Amino acid sequence: LRLAVLASGRGSNLQAILDAIAAQRLRAVVTGVFSDRSSAPVLQRAREAGVAAASLSPRGFATRPDFDRALFARVDAANPDLIVCAGYMRLLDPDVLAPHVGRLVNIHPSLLPAFKGLHTHRQALAAGVSGHGASLHFVTAELDGGPVIAQVRVPVHAGDDEASLAARVLAREHPLLVETLRLFADRRLALREDGVHFDGHAL
Ligand code: GRF
Repeated sequence: LRLAVLASGRGSNLQAILDAIAAQRLRAVVTGVFSDRSSAPVLQRAREAGVAAASLSPRGFATRPDFDRALFARVDAANPDLIVCAGYMRLLDPDVLAPHVGRLVNIHPSLLPAFKGLHTHRQALAAGVSGHGASLHFVTAELDGGPVIAQVRVPVHAGDDEASLAARVLAREHPLLVETLRLFADRRLALREDGVHFDGHAL
């Protein structure tokens, strides 16, 4: 499975992918890592693993579609089977996105459809929910609204703050991402008109 990864920051999800590949727990190759921030630690993680990493600043482009077209030209050049948004913090232009729907996934730190957007752990604490988690979903034009493939749930403990809750979710996010990518590598997942298919059956 050829993977391209879009990321804006720390890159712990990329690291989980690279570690799983190195340990032969995931039959995949990361053909490129792309960031909108030149200082993002994710770029260094990629390079340390011998993976090509590039950053492209939105500041050099007049509009979002211009930037996204330039970004996806680079992503396409890496010839990925699947594009993974792993902490990529920018919205994607719907028209640029359209040809990629079905081979673009995102990891989002909430139990979608709850708590879309930013500061999901803060949102969960404010709502007083007893369970929280992370979702792996196909990316569509709707922000954090594409079909969910898989989720992981964690408890919210009394006394949790944003940091403690984020850490509990992140620890489960990494295996969720790797396990889901294994299903893609084994060609067991696909997006069809009626939603996500697993082993040929609609979920
Ligand atoms: C993760 O919590 C991911 O779900 C969210 O941003 C964070 C990225 O973490 N969208 P990292 O850069 O992979 O460490």
